[in-house]
Amino acid sequence: MLTDNQISQFHKDGYTVVENLLTPGQISQMKDRAARIVEEWDEDESRHVFSTNDNNRTDDTYFLESAEMIRCFYEEEAFGPDGRLVQERSACINKIGHALHELDPVFEPLSHLKELGEIAKQVGMSGPQIRQSMYIFKQPRIGGVVNWHQDASFFYSEPISVVTFWFAVEDATTENGCLWVEPGGHTSPLRERFNRDGNVTTMEALDSTPWPTEENSIPLPASAGTLVVFQGTLPHYSAPNRSDKSRQAYVLHVTDATSAYADTNWLQTVKLPLRGFAS
Ligand code: FE2
Repeated sequence: MLTDNQISQFHKDGYTVVENLLTPGQISQMKDRAARIVEEWDEDESRHVFSTNDNNRTDDTYFLESAEMIRCFYEEEAFGPDGRLVQERSACINKIGHALHELDPVFEPLSHLKELGEIAKQVGMSGPQIRQSMYIFKQPRIGGVVNWHQDASFFYSEPISVVTFWFAVEDATTENGCLWVEPGGHTSPLRERFNRDGNVTTMEALDSTPWPTEENSIPLPASAGTLVVFQGTLPHYSAPNRSDKSRQAYVLHVTDATSAYADTNWLQTVKLPLRGFAS
């Protein structure tokens, strides 16, 4: 449960931080399971990379299909000039997405924890619905940058309702690429929208407000088990990881059933149930 101060911070700064939301047991369950999924991942011929440097894609079926599947994506720097992986395959995966919360027997219960439903309610959600889950590795040395963005660009609804639940599965520091946010930046306009038309996705510019700089943003180092919960319009970013330690995190994006979810969003729930948290 959030304290009154945490609720006020969520409204004033656009985010709040809850330490020890996950127990050490839950953290190891997540880590072990993610490692197992990667181990068992049977990749096809093509090498699927996840990048936020190029948001306009002509045909990204592998990515689009992952909306209701569990798939692995490589780090952008996973391959050397010779086309080979630069380190062990298990240390080259950028993330697993995007339906762990429904399809994976370990992540499913951990995604629907009752405590999260209480937090969602406290921050004003009346009908939370989990749209997406991702397990992010931010691998040692090659962990990719995630450029400044607002999550509402990807989960647009009217009114905007998406709330992000970001869990540190390992200690996140300024060395291994913790989150950076602009406190109060959630009151700035939505700058862009990620639209899908068939198998083509494009980033549409909406507003020219500049992204934050080091002067008006702050790092959010977080120890393993910490939850950072933030609003869909809060600008955030994470730096590349050049350290020797990974920075694993689990992320849920949750919209409110009382808002109208755009049918142009890349992620549409067709086959899977659209659910909130355990009561
Ligand atoms: Fe994000």
